Amino acid sequence: MNCKIQKLLWSIIIFSCTIITVHSQENNATSAGFADSFVLACGSTADATDSNGRKWSSDAKFLTSPDTSVSATAQSQDPSLPSTVPYMTARIFKSEATYKFFVSPKFRHWIRLHFYPSYYGKFDTFHSFFSVTAGGFTLLNNFSASITAEALTQAYIVREFSMMMLESGTLNLTFTPSASYKNSFAFVNGIEIISMPKIFQSVSMVGFSDQNMDAETYTMQTMVRLNVGGQYIPANDDSGLSRTWYDDSPYIYGAGFGVTSQADKNVTIAYPSTESKDIAPLDVYRTSRSMGPNATVNQNYNLTWILQIDVNFTYLVRFHFCDYIFEKVNQMVFSIFINNQTAVSEADVIAWSGGKGVPMHKDYAIYVNGRTGDDQLWVALHPNVEVKPEYYNAILNGLEVFKLNDPKRNLAGPNPEPSSMKAELESERGSFTSPSKSSKNGVIIGSVLGSLAGFGLVVGLIVFLNHRMRRDKTDVSSSSGAWLPIYGSTRSSGGTNTTTKTSASSRISNLAGGLCRHFSLAEIRHGTNGFSESRVIGVGGFGKVYKGLIDGNTTVAVKRANPSSEQGIHEFLNEIELLSKLRHRHLVSLIGACEEHNEMILVYDYMGNGTLREHLYKNANAPISWEQRLGICIGAARGIHYLHTGANLPKDQVSLADWAMLNHRRGTLGEILDPNIKGEINAECLKHFSETAVKCLSDHGTDRPTMGEVLWNLEYCLQLQTNPDGPKMVAKQKANDAYANYATLLSIEEEKDEARQEFEKHSAKTVFSETVNPQGR
Ligand SMILES: *[C@@H]1O[C@H](CO)[C@@H](O)[C@H](O)[C@H]1NC(C)=O
Ligand SMILES: *[C@@H]1O[C@H](CO)[C@@H](O)[C@H](O)[C@H]1NC(C)=O
Ligand SMILES: *[C@@H]1O[C@H](CO)[C@@H](O)[C@H](O)[C@H]1NC(C)=O
Ligand SMILES: *[C@@H]1O[C@H](CO)[C@@H](O)[C@H](O)[C@H]1NC(C)=O
Ligand SMILES: *[C@@H]1O[C@H](CO)[C@@H](O)[C@H](O)[C@H]1NC(C)=O
Ligand SMILES: *[C@@H]1O[C@H](CO)[C@@H](O)[C@H](O)[C@H]1NC(C)=O
Ligand SMILES: *[C@@H]1O[C@H](CO)[C@@H](O)[C@H](O)[C@H]1NC(C)=O
Ligand SMILES: *[C@@H]1O[C@H](CO)[C@@H](O)[C@H](O)[C@H]1NC(C)=O
Repeated sequence: MNCKIQKLLWSIIIFSCTIITVHSQENNATSAGFADSFVLACGSTADATDSNGRKWSSDAKFLTSPDTSVSATAQSQDPSLPSTVPYMTARIFKSEATYKFFVSPKFRHWIRLHFYPSYYGKFDTFHSFFSVTAGGFTLLNNFSASITAEALTQAYIVREFSMMMLESGTLNLTFTPSASYKNSFAFVNGIEIISMPKIFQSVSMVGFSDQNMDAETYTMQTMVRLNVGGQYIPANDDSGLSRTWYDDSPYIYGAGFGVTSQADKNVTIAYPSTESKDIAPLDVYRTSRSMGPNATVNQNYNLTWILQIDVNFTYLVRFHFCDYIFEKVNQMVFSIFINNQTAVSEADVIAWSGGKGVPMHKDYAIYVNGRTGDDQLWVALHPNVEVKPEYYNAILNGLEVFKLNDPKRNLAGPNPEPSSMKAELESERGSFTSPSKSSKNGVIIGSVLGSLAGFGLVVGLIVFLNHRMRRDKTDVSSSSGAWLPIYGSTRSSGGTNTTTKTSASSRISNLAGGLCRHFSLAEIRHGTNGFSESRVIGVGGFGKVYKGLIDGNTTVAVKRANPSSEQGIHEFLNEIELLSKLRHRHLVSLIGACEEHNEMILVYDYMGNGTLREHLYKNANAPISWEQRLGICIGAARGIHYLHTGANLPKDQVSLADWAMLNHRRGTLGEILDPNIKGEINAECLKHFSETAVKCLSDHGTDRPTMGEVLWNLEYCLQLQTNPDGPKMVAKQKANDAYANYATLLSIEEEKDEARQEFEKHSAKTVFSETVNPQGR
């Protein structure tokens, strides 16, 4: 059975019963002679270890006057918390209080503050506004962790600062409740103070190339840290500085996504003597995003990222480059714009770095002044055609943005505003009144497929449920932030279409045998407010997905191809042909398509009830019971089973959640179960469930079960759950029956054969063996 599908199943497990997040490990504080590493779980009375094995100490002994604060425990545990340590305990300050650390004055220091807004006894963090100062700098002011988390749709917040070298060996960290609110208080869940190597130098100002500033003399706040074209890199995979790197795709502007790539295994990527490993991990340099293969398309657009920032500050923008494809100077030359100003007009990575596979970085500083609505930083790349490079393209591997302190030694900006799209979807969801179990299951099964597609598996089977996450998310906190790409890297777009509307439309309907409706571009534009950014509900390799209206009041999801994507009309039509033939209760339907003016657009059913992820992670929704979750897995397995046998479609790529496997190996799977339902899961059932998933991930095809066996095993799990005390023989018989019934419903001969074989196999096992241990093919 296809390995990627197996990986997918593991993803189902993650989505159905676990909490995702990898947390940082201790950085090797001694590796470069760094002195300081304070990692504190605030409000905790004893030392504690988080789910990743990192040790957090009690904060009490660093408080200058311990009696001005209280320690408290959060009343509820959000399932998306990576670990109970340090988030479930907090230090609460009703008046100003100071932590005092003895640090080495020779170093800059990371200061990371962790906040989990929740109820702490009588303290509701909704009423908490406060400031934080350190070493004479204001880090936060009138800060509401509650509003910030809400706006970013995250359960917890991490704020990272880089403190300039201190004059004295004492670092004071002071929390002050806001005076403008009655009964306000300050709180904090975790504090990290860690000395860091020298990674900042002198930087030139954009637009004032003769002016340099010494970044080393500033205190900074990390606004964003992106592994461009790559994946999330957890703190313990950083190159020793415990930084977290995020996927850049949510920050890309418009439909111009470019293409991502990864260095070939035979290309050596190694730090040159001029670049220390501290600058970024090699994984950042191994992946990149470029504009795409078509020079004409590239000349007509800018590859643009938009980042949310605060106005009236100077920003240090750090670009990480490594060209692992070209090797000669002038093969690729491009311009870099920051906020529409030219930072550099002739960027030639090979000329800068000296060769193929050589990592390097470039820093630029820019002041962003305070006209209203200017709280965005645009970073854009465009090929420089004037110098006539061999290829009209541009590349980026990593991007970091740091806010520098202003002359008043301040770094604090206002609290973010919750996005309007979110409010709209929240109110829609308000009408979702707890339906009967079965109807809720139906909804969620659809949602599961959305999440699956998010793993890039089911080509084009898109469910548009994700409520729109602010693209401009600037927080660097959680890997499980609510943004999730909702479909895979299928690239069925391209700028190659020169056909007229009529021929396209007839091609579409010919291909789809009349099942697929043709939409005009005008219709789609009208239905999406001219592809308004406010309608974006998801992004991915293919392009963007918009929430739209057709025929006046039918809500649909509109998937608009990225014009620079590498594949063309042929793949687009293929996708339509395949998708329009698929009709299954557990798959989302394609309604129609539009191919006009170089646009390639697919229109799908809209799933209005949100993603499975939201149902799992949002406390507002009643937790989905274990039984329902098993039902979801069965629904998803049915959908995939149908694809395997009734239609499989080209296979696409999936990202593997290795960490879940790791937890299983460590025997810590139990610890990452959703605390809301942990108690209700039958141990026997869980054991069987996780063993099935692990089997699916076996390295050798022969060790993996068939999809039919997977489905059977899930049915068996459900029997174990619903009837835990019944004899196992009966449970197996019931699972057999359920499976056979389902197979009969599919009017496919092979399917029936397979079902019969399954039935016989399992019946035999029921007789001869007490444990079901699926034999692979
Ligand atoms: C930390 O760094 C030192 C010096 O490079 C090395 O000898 C030691 O093994 C490292 N420790 C860990 C836990 O990585
Ligand atoms: C830190 O705070 C203590 C009192 O809380 C004060 O005596 C000391 O001067 C402060 N140190 C610095 C460097 O601000
Ligand atoms: C690396 O592998 C690719 C194909 O995977 C090949 O085209 C290329 O020539 C190889 N390069 C070297 C330096 O071996
Ligand atoms: C940059 O230019 C674009 C297009 O003219 C405009 O929409 C955008 O607001 C500008 N951005 C900034 C930060 O000036
Ligand atoms: C790319 O961005 C620059 C700077 O904002 C702008 O001058 C130029 O017109 C843009 N080019 C395209 C094709 O959008
Ligand atoms: C930024 O500075 C300008 C000029 O000093 C001021 O008019 C504006 O209100 C400031 N913006 C904010 C958001 O503080
Ligand atoms: C504090 O933050 C809140 C919420 O963002 C805002 O409404 C209020 O005006 C702010 N107060 C001050 C004094 O800046
Ligand atoms: C590049 O795109 C243009 C415009 O969409 C198209 O006319 C041209 O044929 C494409 N070139 C190639 C090589 O695909």
